[in-house]
Amino acid sequence: MDAKTPEQSRSVLVRWMGIGDANSAGFVHGGIVMKLCDEAAGIAAIRHSGCRVVTAAMDRMTFTGPIAIGELVTCSATVNAVWRTSMEVGVRVEAESPRAGEKRHTSTAYLTMVAIDDDGRPTPVPALEPRSEDERRRQREAELRRRNRLDEREQILAARRAEPSPV
Ligand SMILES: CC(C)(COP(=O)(O)OP(=O)(O)OC[C@H]1O[C@@H](n2cnc3c(N)ncnc32)[C@H](O)[C@@H]1OP(=O)(O)O)[C@@H](O)C(=O)NCCC(=O)NCCS
Repeated sequence: MDAKTPEQSRSVLVRWMGIGDANSAGFVHGGIVMKLCDEAAGIAAIRHSGCRVVTAAMDRMTFTGPIAIGELVTCSATVNAVWRTSMEVGVRVEAESPRAGEKRHTSTAYLTMVAIDDDGRPTPVPALEPRSEDERRRQREAELRRRNRLDEREQILAARRAEPSPV
């Protein structure tokens, strides 16, 4: 399997927000943005792996400002790091009023996607070859998030083992 660059996985989804995307306050529902991030991440992961993929986890999702109905939402996704069968995909969300034409950063998400073979089992993915300093930084930060996640899981399991079992 030949290594691929993050740029080869780059995927962009653009959608115009309509009435059906609104929450009760009249802005875009956060769940709509999460779904678009999941779709953009899925496309990037498929481009990298050349396989069907599933979402194993949405590790982080920030919302830094509301998006209005009538605005365009752009989700840009690239693979940040890969392990054996899993990949971290970073997604940047920007909102834009088509009339004003100015884009603003409204969310960042990190998702773990797993490549799946025809029998539905996790399957190895090509290595990632970051080229730019930004791509290397994203890879280092993805490794840190993974280590933190695994450490947290270990700590929780250890704490559960230490708890007295209920009678
Ligand atoms: C994700 C899934 C395939 C993992 O299956 P599994 O039996 O745990 O397989 P493995 O233990 O071999 O793990 C496979 C990879 O998934 C990763 N993984 C598993 N659970 C994870 C989690 N909760 N968070 C992050 N990564 C996870 C493992 O670290 C491993 O990565 P690696 O091979 O790069 O080291 C399985 O849990 C699944 O099918 N989940 C449902 C996915 C789904 O329906 N998503 C929503 C719709 S797409």
